[in-house]
Parts: sequence; structure tokens; C-alpha cells
Amino acid sequence: MIIETKRLILRPFLESDAADVFQYLSKPVVNCFAAMKLHSLEEAKEEMKRRVGETEYYFAIVLKDSNKVIGEIDAYPERGEPHNTNSPLDTFSPCWMLNDSYQGEGYAYEAAHAFFDYLFHEKGARRIYAYTEDYNLSSQHLCEKLGMRREGFFKEFVSFVNNPDGTPHYENTIQYAILKKEWS
Ligand SMILES: CC(C)(COP(=O)(O)OP(=O)(O)OC[C@H]1O[C@@H](n2cnc3c(N)ncnc32)[C@H](O)[C@@H]1OP(=O)(O)O)[C@@H](O)C(=O)NCCC(=O)NCCS
Repeated sequence: MIIETKRLILRPFLESDAADVFQYLSKPVVNCFAAMKLHSLEEAKEEMKRRVGETEYYFAIVLKDSNKVIGEIDAYPERGEPHNTNSPLDTFSPCWMLNDSYQGEGYAYEAAHAFFDYLFHEKGARRIYAYTEDYNLSSQHLCEKLGMRREGFFKEFVSFVNNPDGTPHYENTIQYAILKKEWS
């Protein structure tokens, strides 16, 4: 699947994307992506081999002008009612990340808007929700710009890294969401 916007192409990853992906995943800036950190170009190449089969829900964000991969966006279908195994897979929670040299130019909004359109209109999404750390103002801004409602604040909700003494470092999380009927 390929999604096109004014300035971007969203497409599945290629093995040749390793160097571009290594640029931003060698130093994930938020703790929720700490486990995705790539330590070498070799590791990035292995990671690209895993990603190439992902053609529906995991996209490289590519600049049309230069063909450079500047980030990524993904979301997988989840059951709207986790306790009911017969409930439809109509709920998605996106992750988004841009190379910091390309932030503040509207690319994240352009990519996420097109991705939401795709999920709502082609992949059966009924509800899209996002979790973001309370300190992650750029991600909160993006959620709000996309028209997502702030649904909740979860205090010390999740831990991605440990404190220096080895105990879990819990973070406060904000949840945003938007329904298909709210998306225009
Ligand atoms: C979250 C993240 C993807 C947001 O990226 P971003 O670059 O700040 O977001 P945008 O691409 O929408 O850019 C926003 C700003 O670009 C500016 N901009 C410049 N040129 C623009 C253009 N042509 N069109 C639109 N906006 C433009 C605007 O000032 C806009 O802010 P505004 O909405 O107040 O007008 C990015 O900060 C990131 O990758 N963070 C690290 C990973 C992360 O935190 N992921 C989320 C974990 S919960």
C-alpha cells in the first residue's frame, strides 16, 4: 500500500532505508521508544529485513522531493472490546516518530492525517486512540491538531525505563481519541 500526500509518500519499508532509519532510531528521544533503539547500521539493516513484509500497517514517511525516509507511522488493528474475542478489530493506536531535523514543518500532521484517512476509510477503523507522555507536548499538539479529544490522564501509568536504582520509572500518560463519525 502506498499513500500519497502533497509533500510525502507513505510506503512500506525497504532494506535500503537502513541508513535513514538509523539516523533517528539511534537516539529515540522519548522513553516509550527506548526499546526500539538501534545501536549500529548493521542492526538497522536487520531491522529493515523484519519490516519489509509489513505492507498494511507500518509505513515509512518519505519526502517526495529527495526520497529520504524522515520518519515512520504505524498502527495495528485491535479489538474494540478487549474482553470480547468476537468484537471487531476496529480500533487502532498509532505510533509516530520523525527525524528531529525534519520536525516543526508540518510533516507529522500531513502523514498522520493521511494515515487516519486510510485507517477510517480503508481499514475499518471505528476509533483511533493515542497514548502520549505528559511531557511530550509536540505529540499532544499533533493529537489536538488532528481533532482528537483528550480522554484521560493516567498517573504513573507505565514504565519503559528504570531509575538509576533499578526500580521502574513510571510515567504519566495522556490518552487522546477520535471516532470515525468525528473525523471529517
Ligand atoms: C510527535 C512528532 C511526530 C510531532 O512532529 P512535529 O514536527 O512537531 O509536528 P508537525 O509536523 O505537525 O509540525 C508542527 C508545526 O510545524 C510548523 N509548520 C511549518 N511548516 C508547516 C507546514 N507547511 N504545514 C504545517 N505546519 C508547518 C507549524 O508551526 C506546526 O505547528 P502548528 O500546528 O502550531 O502550526 C515529533 O515531535 C516526534 O517525532 N517526536 C519524537 C517521537 C515521539 O514523541 N512520538 C510520539 C510518542 S507518544
